[in-house]
Amino acid sequence: MKVLVTGGLGYIGSHTCVQLIENGHTPVVMDNLSNSKALVLNRIEALTGQRPSFHLGDVRDEAFLDSIFAQHQIDAVIHFAGLKAVGESVSKPLEYYDNNVNGSLVLARSMRKAGVKNIIFSSSATVYGDPQQVPITEDSPTGATTNPYGRSKYIVEQCLSDLFTAEDDWSITLLRYFNPVGAHPSGTLGEDPQGIPNNLMPFIAQVAVGRRDKLAVFGDDYPTPDGTGVRDYIHVMDLADGHLAALNALTNKSGLHIYNLGTGKGSSVLDMVNAFSAACGHPVAYEIHPRRAGDIAECWASTAKAEQDLGWKATRDIAQMSADTWHWQSNNPQGYDELEK
Ligand code: NAD
Ligand code: UFG
Repeated sequence: MKVLVTGGLGYIGSHTCVQLIENGHTPVVMDNLSNSKALVLNRIEALTGQRPSFHLGDVRDEAFLDSIFAQHQIDAVIHFAGLKAVGESVSKPLEYYDNNVNGSLVLARSMRKAGVKNIIFSSSATVYGDPQQVPITEDSPTGATTNPYGRSKYIVEQCLSDLFTAEDDWSITLLRYFNPVGAHPSGTLGEDPQGIPNNLMPFIAQVAVGRRDKLAVFGDDYPTPDGTGVRDYIHVMDLADGHLAALNALTNKSGLHIYNLGTGKGSSVLDMVNAFSAACGHPVAYEIHPRRAGDIAECWASTAKAEQDLGWKATRDIAQMSADTWHWQSNNPQGYDELEK
């Protein structure tokens, strides 16, 4: 299949492009490089022997999208492009709604004009807010998110659901990711956050490689086994494979499909610190800090629906996630090197 991958040079998009190529698909990548680097194309090419067609531009630019659909016979779209930092979304709500909500609407309009009605959308477990029970099933209540980023994901879910209600020849899959971590096992693709990482795994990796002194553990008084927050960390390669499974199912049937992509297992902050310390061969320094505002105690996915409908299940554990992140971070201590040819 020829697949337009918006945001395809970002963290999850780049790993998904590799898996698409490895499985006989042809990704067509578009990205505005607001949070990624063009040299990721070199890395994808080095891994797969194929350089995806790349279109530099913005998902909010309808004429630009129209021109991509005119140039390529696209079968389906995987829509990763958007902004993703929870804290930043509080101070820049207009940018978040514009990139995430407006960008998705412009994309859907352009797709409709081109007669391309298969889309996979990157949603997030954040749409569940503070869950009433774990594991979280797909029919759990959504919408009680506490920040503009989370609301933007919820709004796009609603927009796409309404679109399907109005036009039932669409095939729309909403994938709710839990906590993506890890890197390509080659050590050549990984997460390259700008500035101080907001998320746990990249922060731990930067402490381990010596870029930062110690991890601040946000709270040790949650009602969890060791008092630290519990999340469902999923290896980015499993996540990429989940997109392939969703893609195969997507074009078989019109409909609105919603799946959690997680492992079904919760790990605490200290579990992650310990797993990473084992992977890198030395202890990762940390100290306990107060809770971070807006954090929930625990969250993990029910994986039954994805297993049953998509035949997909995550297979990599936190030891593998840590080993692959460490391989990436120690090979690329400063992230993607701007000087690379
Ligand atoms: P990322 O920032 O690494 O990738 C997003 C890519 O989209 C980047 O390459 C960026 O340059 C591009 N982009 C942003 N705005 C754009 C625009 N207006 N036009 C064109 N390109 C644009 O993020 P990621 O971690 O790979 O996340 C991919 C998607 O998954 C996002 O939609 C994100 O919200 C969602 N998601 C991520 C996580 C996570 O923890 N990483 C969790 C749940 C959901
Ligand atoms: N944590 C620390 N120290 C840090 C960073 C995080 O102790 O420096 C803790 C948090 O308190 C939390 C856990 O590590 O208990 C995970 O935090 P992350 O920031 O890595 O991830 P979140 O679960 O807060 O959020 C992530 C994504 C969101 C997404 C959400 C639900 O960043 O975009 O998962 O999918 F919405």
